[in-house]
Amino acid sequence: MISRPFKIGILASGRGSNLQAIIDSVERGDLDAEVAVILSNKENAQALERGKKHNIECVFVDPKTYPDKESFDCEMIRRLREKQVDLICLAGYMRILGAEFIATFQGKILNIHPSLLPAFPGLSPQQQALDSGAKTSGCTVHFVELAVDAGPIVLQSSVPVRDSDGVDELSQRILEQEHIIYPRAIKLFLENRLTISGRRVLIKDD
Ligand code: GAR
Repeated sequence: MISRPFKIGILASGRGSNLQAIIDSVERGDLDAEVAVILSNKENAQALERGKKHNIECVFVDPKTYPDKESFDCEMIRRLREKQVDLICLAGYMRILGAEFIATFQGKILNIHPSLLPAFPGLSPQQQALDSGAKTSGCTVHFVELAVDAGPIVLQSSVPVRDSDGVDELSQRILEQEHIIYPRAIKLFLENRLTISGRRVLIKDD
């Protein structure tokens, strides 16, 4: 039997520090996988620059050249299929995925969000945490479903919210945890150790 490497497709819209953490994990040999393609809806996303430095195929898919959201998503699906990806990781991808995209890759899309979901979904979750007076926040890796920042939770990591925190301090503390738990969740996925059971994700041999 010819075995091929486990292939990851990454969707990113911005800075790409989570993408970098995934690439670094692959290059260190912590993840037995390859990043097959990076797609972005933002031409100037730093994520694309980071990927190019590692000789990964990086593609800007311009939403303005598609008549509607569905046809844009179709192009994203086509490119991911072409690369035969086994897993799609959203890494700061700030565009809502449509029903067809999610159905096509059901159970194969992970996202990271900078809060302890289901608390503080949507935009500015770190500011939401500060505004709420929460003493603890953190980050969540979860499977993606149609509702935004929802879906069965794979891993979470918590951090304290300090009295002196502004949004930058809290974001940085959370980000450090994101870079740890995202590669860890991907490793669990590619080792076939995750089972979705209702709203829960069961982790084999945890
Ligand atoms: C990260 O904090 C990620 O959790 C968040 O965007 C940031 C991207 O940073 N994602 C979301 O808020 C998704 N709802 P990065 O581009 O440096 O990885």
